[in-house]
Amino acid sequence: MSHQINISPSLLAADFAHLADSIEAVEQAGADELHFDVMDGLFVPNITIGIPILEAIRPLTKLPIDIHMMVTEPARYAKQFAEAGGDIFTIHVEACDDLETSLGDTRVTGMVAAVSLKPDTPASVLQPFISSIERVLVMTVEPGFGGQRFMSEMLPKITELTEMAHRTGTDLEIAVDGGIKVDTAREVINAGATTLISGTGVFDYPNGLKMGIKALRHAGANEHD
Ligand code: DX5
Ligand code: ZN
Repeated sequence: MSHQINISPSLLAADFAHLADSIEAVEQAGADELHFDVMDGLFVPNITIGIPILEAIRPLTKLPIDIHMMVTEPARYAKQFAEAGGDIFTIHVEACDDLETSLGDTRVTGMVAAVSLKPDTPASVLQPFISSIERVLVMTVEPGFGGQRFMSEMLPKITELTEMAHRTGTDLEIAVDGGIKVDTAREVINAGATTLISGTGVFDYPNGLKMGIKALRHAGANEHD
């Protein structure tokens, strides 16, 4: 049985000199949300985009924007990102001194709070929170850079989260991020992933954005679906 799959293109792989065109193109190509990678040069060894860029692009699209905060103590900025138009605020468990407080500080802004796990962080850290979390993001590469190779060792973590959610009867969205192409999309969907974040897999797809999004969305379907 296949489940509904959402596709979230990562703007990190877009053409930053023509960002408005890239956003319009992925929206028309059928994207379900946009993924906005924020890096602070401290939590990860890279620096990307932030609040002014979010403010600039917010009026250009109706799609929900997922803010992936690769930033130490991300909740310090929750209010500003909410005011700039963020819809989902994805924070790393490793970046928060007190996850519960950070989740609370995010939720009061009205954004959906999501929790991300770096590759070395086990699913079990989320056990105490699982019934109150709506969405998790499993990193399938080390965060910091686009275009890296998918880590298949992350598949059991996705399965474990799927099972944890089933056991607690919660409707958990499971997003994956890093190295998601058609072949790896099939594996993560089969493990239970519901949202596929993909940068180069969408923007560099050889047959165009529309075909790329469609190919990712249906990667897990067999011929009987
Ligand atoms: C990496 C970012 C990703 C990145 C994914 O740290 O979180 O969102 O853009 O890029 P691809 O899909 O090219 O691996
Ligand atoms: Zn990301």
